[in-house]
Amino acid sequence: MHLSKTTNWFLIFILAIFASGCQSSQDKLSGGDIAIVPKPVHVLVNSGFFEITKDSKIIVDSETGLLGDMLTTLLSPSMGFELDVSDGDPVRNSIQLSLNSTLKEFGEESYHLTVDKKRVLIEAPTGAGIFYGIQTLRQLLPVEVYQDHEQRDVQWDIPCVEIEDYPRFKWRGMHLDVCRHFMPAEFVIKYIDLIAIHKMNRLHLHLTDDQGWRIDINSYPKLAEISAWRDETIVGHYRDEPRKFDGLSHGGYYTHDEIREIVSYAKERYITIVPEIEMPGHSQAALAAYPEISCTGGPFKVSTIWGIRNEVYCAGNEKTFEFLENVLTEVLAMFPGEYIHIGGDECPKDRWEECPKCQSRISSEGLQDEHELQSYFIKRMEKFLDANNRRLIGWDEILEGGLAPNATVMSWRGEEGGIAAARAGHDVVMTPYSHTYFDYYQADPENEPLAIGGLLPLDTVYAYDPVPAELNEQQRSHILGVQGQVWTEYISTPEKAEYMAFPRACALAEIAWTPLDQKDYELFSSALLRHLKRLDFLNVNYRR
Ligand code: ACM
Ligand code: ZN
Repeated sequence: MHLSKTTNWFLIFILAIFASGCQSSQDKLSGGDIAIVPKPVHVLVNSGFFEITKDSKIIVDSETGLLGDMLTTLLSPSMGFELDVSDGDPVRNSIQLSLNSTLKEFGEESYHLTVDKKRVLIEAPTGAGIFYGIQTLRQLLPVEVYQDHEQRDVQWDIPCVEIEDYPRFKWRGMHLDVCRHFMPAEFVIKYIDLIAIHKMNRLHLHLTDDQGWRIDINSYPKLAEISAWRDETIVGHYRDEPRKFDGLSHGGYYTHDEIREIVSYAKERYITIVPEIEMPGHSQAALAAYPEISCTGGPFKVSTIWGIRNEVYCAGNEKTFEFLENVLTEVLAMFPGEYIHIGGDECPKDRWEECPKCQSRISSEGLQDEHELQSYFIKRMEKFLDANNRRLIGWDEILEGGLAPNATVMSWRGEEGGIAAARAGHDVVMTPYSHTYFDYYQADPENEPLAIGGLLPLDTVYAYDPVPAELNEQQRSHILGVQGQVWTEYISTPEKAEYMAFPRACALAEIAWTPLDQKDYELFSSALLRHLKRLDFLNVNYRR
């Protein structure tokens, strides 16, 4: 029989409707109850269930052994038994994790998940795809699977489904500012787990700022001794008058061992850490320890208030570049990811305007002004990163005075910077404050804990599309993805960081993963109701 392509698709369509229609009338769990966040690309629900029992087996191949161990470890606390992991042929009652490098049609991070009554199969071209298939499998199980202790009365049923899934964007990020308030390594680990269950793959760690330097650097020990600590912290909002302070020392930093642990924990979950070492602005904490690389020579204190500070690295002094290259050399050894964030935002030019060294750099390099001096600074750091096979990423101010040749831009002051960068052939991560700043209020400030300002409710986050309409096809390919920001001026504890990040990060995950034409706020909201139970079991202090 010869069928035209159209007839063929029509038949498949009818069969699919028939299949999903059948199951919803007879099964305990219908397609509408499936609550996977972010929403997968294609889901076909069939009738029946696969039940995980203590006799179920996880079948791995030569490349999925660690993922099989991870799956057992994820399931055992709530199930109360450890599934056997072995390689070999699939058997009845097994969950098979199978790497198949030919399945590249939907990209490196895609996966195919089939659940029938006899077995479960997750197939993917890479470990990342298998990992995302595992996340989906967990979300198909009863929500109690996220409990950290045995759930005796739960039957571990997974609905029979056929899922084909892959991400819309390759950069699916969350950011965390650990400078304004130091966040202990244990919290960073928990944050990584939460990023991972939402199939996001970047953690941008903002490690240095005016109010604290948070990473030990062997060649500059005073960064940990001095720059990591401030005498006290402003209380209430930065704009309140008169200013009040808490009188309490605050600080902390990550040791090399902690950084290595964080990096490797993230890597096992297919998350790359993007470390940010700010320059040339937001550097007062470093200058408190090493005032000789400022324009005036200091002295300075680690800042106890928020906002933009005037004390910045001297761009005319060779010692500044020596310092930053030595710091970055240690940072590169700890963070193997491709991208290194150099900040670049909010650098006042007041000191440079009055500094003989900076002014003589401007004339010797034939620069027009202090904006071009900033551009000189960033381009010089880019040469260093290029020579070390890494890529520079910075906030959109790095466009001012001319973009470094290979720079990637984080567009935060709006989309304009990202649009200009994409038009110039540069890669872009969309991070506009209007839709991705999770330090903004999520509802009426009257009833919310103190925040920096602004208003960014969940539905506004969800509505965001990171691809600006004014870009053509070629320019659109430069939009790597999207990222949510958690700046911590008004977030002094991990609990409050969770409150501000969730559930807005769930909406962001769906922007980053789900095809635009499949986004649906009503469906997301109903999936979220169930998803929040998972976050309850994970002890996440999300906003209700
Ligand atoms: C920023 O919010 N200053 C990047
Ligand atoms: Zn200077």
